[in-house]
Amino acid sequence: MNDRVVTREIHGQVLVLTADFPPVNALGHPVRAGLLAAVEDAANDDAVDAVVLICAGRTFFAGADISEFGKPRAEPTLSRVCAAIEACPKPVVAAMHGTALGGGLEIALACHYRIAVPSARFGLPEVKIGLLPGAGGTQRLPRLIGVATAIELIVSAEQIGENRAASIGLIDRTADEGKLLQGAIDLASEKAYVRPIPRICERANPTDGGAIERFVAANGRKIRGLDAPNAALRAVRAATELEFGDGLLLERRLFTELEAGEQSGALRYFFNAERGAGRVDDLAQGAAALPVRKIGIVGAGTMGAGIATAFLSSGFPVVLYELNRDALDRGLQVVRGNLSRAAASSRLGEHETEAALAAVTPVLEPEALGDCDVVIEAAFELMEIKRKIFGMLDRVAKPEAILATNTSYLDIDEIAAATTRPARVMGLHFFSPAHIMKLLEVVRGARTSSSALLTAMALAKRIGKTAVIAGNGYGFIGNRILARRRTEALNLLMEGAFPDQIDAAHVAFGMPMGPFQMSDLAGVDIGWHRDPSRIESLRDALCAAGRFGQKAGKGFYDYDDHRTGSPSREAQAIIRDYAMALGRPQRAISEEEILERTLYPMVDEGARIVAEGIARKTSDVDVVWVRGFGWPIYRGGPMYWADHVGLKKIVSRLRHYGLDVAPSLEARAESGRSLLDPAASG
Ligand code: 3HC
Repeated sequence: MNDRVVTREIHGQVLVLTADFPPVNALGHPVRAGLLAAVEDAANDDAVDAVVLICAGRTFFAGADISEFGKPRAEPTLSRVCAAIEACPKPVVAAMHGTALGGGLEIALACHYRIAVPSARFGLPEVKIGLLPGAGGTQRLPRLIGVATAIELIVSAEQIGENRAASIGLIDRTADEGKLLQGAIDLASEKAYVRPIPRICERANPTDGGAIERFVAANGRKIRGLDAPNAALRAVRAATELEFGDGLLLERRLFTELEAGEQSGALRYFFNAERGAGRVDDLAQGAAALPVRKIGIVGAGTMGAGIATAFLSSGFPVVLYELNRDALDRGLQVVRGNLSRAAASSRLGEHETEAALAAVTPVLEPEALGDCDVVIEAAFELMEIKRKIFGMLDRVAKPEAILATNTSYLDIDEIAAATTRPARVMGLHFFSPAHIMKLLEVVRGARTSSSALLTAMALAKRIGKTAVIAGNGYGFIGNRILARRRTEALNLLMEGAFPDQIDAAHVAFGMPMGPFQMSDLAGVDIGWHRDPSRIESLRDALCAAGRFGQKAGKGFYDYDDHRTGSPSREAQAIIRDYAMALGRPQRAISEEEILERTLYPMVDEGARIVAEGIARKTSDVDVVWVRGFGWPIYRGGPMYWADHVGLKKIVSRLRHYGLDVAPSLEARAESGRSLLDPAASG
């Protein structure tokens, strides 16, 4: 088996080792065993003077095999394979294409020379799954490229391209696209007799020069409370202070601690959950994604412009339609602003930004949408308006085009009924800001075809979104849970809690903002009836006082010119008056109660959504809340978190507060099953 995973072929005196372990050449046991045997044999084979290590398929090794984490690892370990490669008495060349990630890049660092094609990408994504580079990466990388750049790569976990890799000295040479093997054999032949063989482990300790302190000063807030980046910093510091071997031992110890920790467990769970959301093989047999070349967008408001930006940034031509010139111009301004911010933060290159700007066609006639493959409506959130637009789109769009609505709450079937093609109508619900947030809810109407769904899933991947299929029910997955949280948060306000107290509890839990900060950002007046004399809810009372949120400079908070919020006496007086009017007694409320009363109902709502089939699997709820609302990823998502809190506790606390408990949640709590137990349904 290992011989088939790592094949050997001699080219003159150069032995080429080719690893082939689909889909991404993860460094699972057969790969490690095959590599070690091949390298040890090469060391003892007189016919071999140099070795090339290359991968078949779409990529160089994409890292350790994530499915092996949390279990005892079979020998040889990746560290042992790296040590054997580095110690090889003959030069070893790493030949990289695709994505050389994590343990894959660490293998390359153990090799003596590195060559790559221009399209190759490099990175150490371990901290994203709560780990650190554990096969020598924290010790070899700073010795090769310096402490400051090594920290940036390890802690940011972002990928870099070949250009940057060459400029920081991570690779020695670039091969032409399609000529990697020959380039690597040439490099190996050239270096076959060059001595000493350059081994990173033999380099002196790199000097820190204050790089770690500078990094912490600039990024301390981002990594506060996160185990992996902090452990990674300790390991890199060790590279500056300890002998190579001692540094490796520390790295190993830290890695083992992280692997056993809660955060890494949650992050690894989420890695699989996110990929699981995209697995839709159970959809109708024989259905296939349709080709999509051109996108139409109806409505150039904030959402429409954000959606346009998302497609333009990924190289799609976009036709942007509005009713009047002013609205269209404003929308285009927003698109330009979005794209230039993407360019400023290097998310887009100069060339890509220009190409993106040139690819938008602003139009005032709907007929111009006629040759779009997918048209996304992002207009006002009113059923009559949506139905009118869909009737119009049905007439102007080509018959095979997919028509999608970005509605947050409305009934997809009712919208689809305004067309003659309900099989090609669906929801594509983006989250604000649409060009930044990774989540896309793909909402399936009663008659939406499998091929339309598959098209949407494939399209989402092309624009870098994580798509989750949701059923057609009020608020779909994300907003329905959000609404439940809002209800409970408002109840707490009525009983004596303050907005900033509730928000602070959520931020301390790890959310980017609390429910009332979110409400102020989105606009307190969303859905308001606009009659200041009619006060039937707290929202009505706030809106009657002009407290519409950030845009008005006041909402649940008061805002300064920089939109920084501070607790508002006026808002608090309005809240208290309204509570008095309802006759609600006031009391002091603890942080624990705030969290239990807002987060446990979210779990309860998630369980209902799964039981009703609105979410296809429990983990999809987690993907929605992490990618759409910023639930702290190191807590896995509300459902994963609930299993760790304990369902019995959650049910008993919900009852204690007099809140509803979903039958499916109760059943699982009683039988001791977890929410994520796939074997059990109901
Ligand atoms: N281990 C096991 N399986 C992996 C994997 C890995 N490291 N990386 C990807 N896969 C699997 C995915 O689960 C998926 O499986 P599926 O087809 O059954 O759903 C399949 O490979 C394809 O993955 P994607 O859908 O993500 O494919 P993309 O082409 O979009 O992306 C990728 C490819 C860039 C390689 C991306 O999968 C990725 O980022 N993988 C994770 C890489 C990573 O984190 N590596 C570090 C591992 S930790 C480590 O190396 C520790 C070391 O320091 C000791």
